Amino acid sequence: PEANKGYTYEDCKATADWLMAQTDVRPTVGIVCGSGLGGLADMLKDQVAFNYKDIPNFPQSTVHGHAGRLVFGTLKGRPCVCMQGRFHLYEGYPIQKITLPIRIFKLLGVETVMLTNAAGGLNQDFKVGDIMILKDHLNMPGFAGNNPLAGPNDERFGVRFPCMSDAYDRELQQLAMDVGQELGYGDFLKEGVYCVLGGPSFETIAECRMLHKLGADAVGMSTVYEVIIARHCGMRVFALSLITNQAVMDYDSEEKANHEEVLQTGKQRAEQLERLVSTMVTRIEHN
Ligand code: 6GU
Repeated sequence: PEANKGYTYEDCKATADWLMAQTDVRPTVGIVCGSGLGGLADMLKDQVAFNYKDIPNFPQSTVHGHAGRLVFGTLKGRPCVCMQGRFHLYEGYPIQKITLPIRIFKLLGVETVMLTNAAGGLNQDFKVGDIMILKDHLNMPGFAGNNPLAGPNDERFGVRFPCMSDAYDRELQQLAMDVGQELGYGDFLKEGVYCVLGGPSFETIAECRMLHKLGADAVGMSTVYEVIIARHCGMRVFALSLITNQAVMDYDSEEKANHEEVLQTGKQRAEQLERLVSTMVTRIEHN
């Protein structure tokens, strides 16, 4: 499609139909794995996997730490589809390309979308390695007109002006808390507001202070656009941030945000985060 024109319903349908012709798996849960968190896809049984470059209409993932595969399979018998690696604004993709897979999820029959990401902590009570349940978001690029729903609206997906005050499903947040307690994650399971920025440069100290004052608990470069598209077409949404580093808030700090630290923390806590999500999947009820 032309830059910023987006994909049509028919484009999305063509991709979904192509995928359904290659696999019998009919997923009700769609999962998007963040930086260093792709291990979730490896937990799926009876896998059918596609490299993004082989899927019609799919953009390709370029960032280090993202595999770039769409994996179908089951988690304890529940049919799932998992994006192992996502697309980001900072890679230069138009925002509609970033969110295309979410609409394909919808056309595959997905009812619940679960998203993970790596984020910097702004809340001073957070520690590196904490897992934050998203209860809300700040869409900073959206304030400047960069919303994945900008452009013509196709009512087959959803309404022109969708509600976002209920974006993050309350029952799924409670389920995450319950499962987290059972797994013994109580000490590092938090909840908060995620703020998305365009990236790829990390925040300045003044920007971190500003975002914290505005109510953000964590800052990252993803997730929010996918949440908006998923809610627009009526899927339930759940999202988690792995706090991989503390955003620098202080001019005396020696800390510097860097991508290696993000990936390193991801490795350490990834397994626990993956267990939390996979256990939740086995408890989600669908119609
Ligand atoms: Cl500190 N900032 C942003 N924007 N994204 C991140 C991050 C920080 N840490 C991990 N991802």
